[in-house]
Amino acid sequence: MEKIVSLCKRRGFIFQSSEIYGGLNGFWDYGPMGVELKRNLKDFWWRRNVHEREDMVGMDGSIIMNRAVWKASGHEETFSDPMVDCRTCKARHRADQLPQKDGTPYCPACGGRDLTEPRAFNLMLKSYAGPLENDDNLVYLRPETAQAMFVQFKNILETSRKKLPFGIAQIGKAFRNEINPRNYIFRSREFEQMEIEYFCRPEDGLALTDYWLEERLKFYEDIGIPRAKIKIHDIPDGERAFYSKKTYDLEYEFPFGMSELEGVAYRTDYDLSAHMKHSGKPLEYFDDEKKEKFVPHVVEPSAGVDRTALALICEAFDEEEVTDEKGNKEVRTILRFHPRIAPVKCGIFPLLKNKPALVEKAKAVAASLRPHMMVFYDEAGAIGRRYRRQDEIGTPFCVTVDFDTIGENGPEKVDTVTLRHRDSMQQERIPIAGLRARLEAAIF
Ligand code: GAP
Repeated sequence: MEKIVSLCKRRGFIFQSSEIYGGLNGFWDYGPMGVELKRNLKDFWWRRNVHEREDMVGMDGSIIMNRAVWKASGHEETFSDPMVDCRTCKARHRADQLPQKDGTPYCPACGGRDLTEPRAFNLMLKSYAGPLENDDNLVYLRPETAQAMFVQFKNILETSRKKLPFGIAQIGKAFRNEINPRNYIFRSREFEQMEIEYFCRPEDGLALTDYWLEERLKFYEDIGIPRAKIKIHDIPDGERAFYSKKTYDLEYEFPFGMSELEGVAYRTDYDLSAHMKHSGKPLEYFDDEKKEKFVPHVVEPSAGVDRTALALICEAFDEEEVTDEKGNKEVRTILRFHPRIAPVKCGIFPLLKNKPALVEKAKAVAASLRPHMMVFYDEAGAIGRRYRRQDEIGTPFCVTVDFDTIGENGPEKVDTVTLRHRDSMQQERIPIAGLRARLEAAIF
């Protein structure tokens, strides 16, 4: 993890939030490379789950909703961790994570044993909407994106004219006042979720849970996380949420251990029924063909953007020993991202920066590709160094404009460039005219 954290900072993926003021525990900023990685991940998720499917629509709900939503969903009452306070050093810890000595729990901060009884600590972050900071104006920053999709179920059903089964997809920020934010961006207090609520007839719920598990595994494979690297945990009876008839946790082997990436949960009709009861509004579905009215059931694949980004970085991270042109051995650090999620798709270099014709041509190649993909023009330092910098941010391709390109060695290779492949380090000569199509095929 140390190497990954250091690379992410050095290469502009992830910074501590408010770093110059000492940071803020559980909050992170994504730099120029990190934001591209996350965008590529979210765009591909959206394409796969919304644009490429006839049975899905998207939405973008507000982060702050009527407090009644969180009463109805059960979050106000039960979305909490059991906490104890240490009376000696005043630290607060999760009761279920306390270390024990001789069968007695103790404070991991000071070793003291004078601890309070466990108390429920609600994880929702609070704020006030309106000028008065009183109970009437109390609001929560949403702890999950899901609820907006339940609350807007009727509006979306009517405006999209979808028939069951169909789903709503949403990507957005969620906030949880986690007691122990840890493992870098894995458990944060502000994070993003990519969630689907897939509504169906009750008798289809279990089969659709298995269907979505398979869809999600395919998705991870298509962004470069092979299914062999994901452990499916079928949560046994008694350990699932009381309303869930089936839940799969998809776990990935992070350097700090096997941990949850995503949950695929069959939530039955719990959410829609709860909102129907609390709001007094009908949220049923009317099946025209069968002439029946019922509350749809829902299957929910719920993934974390930040956790997936971390899994992508961990999966891509590699080091290998290489020998440079002078015979010196060095360690090559590479992020072997799948081209479709790599932040930069192609590095573009003139062989020498003091040859105006090379620079002009390389800049023209970069400009021609820029509207179609993220490229990076670099003329600083030896070519080998420039390749290494791109390897470290996971750029799958690099193009070099040399004297052949500008026709200095004869007409045969004019307007061709070398295309270097990150993983094999092999180079091939290709015409500039075919470059865009070639790269687009690889990054789509
Ligand atoms: N709507 C269901 C729901 O929110 P969850 O298991 O609590 O279920 C879903 O969260 C996903 O959101 C998790 O699998 C994880 O990827 C991400 N997630 C949850 N809490 C997180 C946190 N504190 N930091 C980063 N990601 C988190």
